[in-house]
Amino acid sequence: MGEEFLVNLKYSPDIPHSVDVIEAGGLTKYYGEFLAVDHISFRVKKGEIFGFLGPNGAGKTTTIRMLTGILKPSEGWVRIFGLDTGKDILRIKEDIGVVPEMANPYIDLTAMQNLFLVGRLYGMRKGEIRERGEELLHLFGIYDKKDKKVRSFSKGLRQRLSLAMALLPDPELLFLDEPTSGLDVMSARLIKRIIRDENKRGKTIFMSTHNMGDANELCNRIAIINHGKIIAIDTPEKIKSMSKGHTVIEVSFEPFKFKPGDFAYGEKIEIAGDKVRIHTRYPDDVIKEIVHYAEKNKLKIVSLTSRTPTLEEAFVHLVGDESE
Ligand SMILES: Nc1ncnc2c1ncn2[C@@H]1O[C@H](COP(=O)(O)OP(=O)(O)OP(=O)(O)O)[C@@H](O)[C@H]1O
Ligand SMILES: [Mg+2]
Repeated sequence: MGEEFLVNLKYSPDIPHSVDVIEAGGLTKYYGEFLAVDHISFRVKKGEIFGFLGPNGAGKTTTIRMLTGILKPSEGWVRIFGLDTGKDILRIKEDIGVVPEMANPYIDLTAMQNLFLVGRLYGMRKGEIRERGEELLHLFGIYDKKDKKVRSFSKGLRQRLSLAMALLPDPELLFLDEPTSGLDVMSARLIKRIIRDENKRGKTIFMSTHNMGDANELCNRIAIINHGKIIAIDTPEKIKSMSKGHTVIEVSFEPFKFKPGDFAYGEKIEIAGDKVRIHTRYPDDVIKEIVHYAEKNKLKIVSLTSRTPTLEEAFVHLVGDESE
């Protein structure tokens, strides 16, 4: 940790400097008898985009609600900026922004009035709120709607305003619960770009998602949560490499001639459109076999690619395909 790190911190001097912005230990939530979050522990470093990836009902929202002091854990502890959420939640809240699962602006207020409400809560001056608020409304492409009641906003527009509200006080740490869920391609791209830009400006981001593509594109590290337990926690690339088929080889022949059973190697062989897709731990053997097969059957190899599994393939492998 260099000098630079200390200088860049915005926290007041009474807050201990810590590289770990979020720390959770044995964090657990029971709803009655039902165990929704099961003794999870993890750390998020300053400047990371940390993804919480899991299927519906895995415990993502429950975890975010415990991290942000909305829900009291049944067991375990959380420290944000080195402070205990059980004791110092008010101080912590000054420096965090939260975008909940359901966009939360008041529908009977206009976009600008919602921003004022947040700004006043954080003790910002009126001029400051107006200036930064307008800047954010421009950034989110909703400036022309600033004096319209939120009631008339679509889901995507409400989501944009919700993120603008979270960013208004310029918090150090952002919690985003599925920031792109249900958004069209352009809105999702806009929100992802803003997440990336905020991160470049030094913000730490904790986001939940079930979108593998987003997690892969945005996150430095990912925790995979299923049935309330963290089953893997690592970089997207490392998570991909945990998947059983370490390599995926795709080959296309002309004429296309192939039936399962033609190949001896490969743990999983499937036909995908005009390609054969082979999951294997032994890519070298498989490629030799493909070449031999093509020669023997007088086939031309039109394309041959080898790649690591996508995050989605790795996820299905780790979580198990419950639809099968
Ligand atoms: N207030 C509650 N009372 C009882 N059970 C709850 C409550 N809130 C959530 N649960 C249950 O706890 C589990 C975890 O829910 P949670 O909302 O944290 O999941 P999630 O990972 O956010 O799912 P999704 O992807 O659908 O948003 C689910 O089985 C859910 O039904
Ligand atoms: Mg949720």
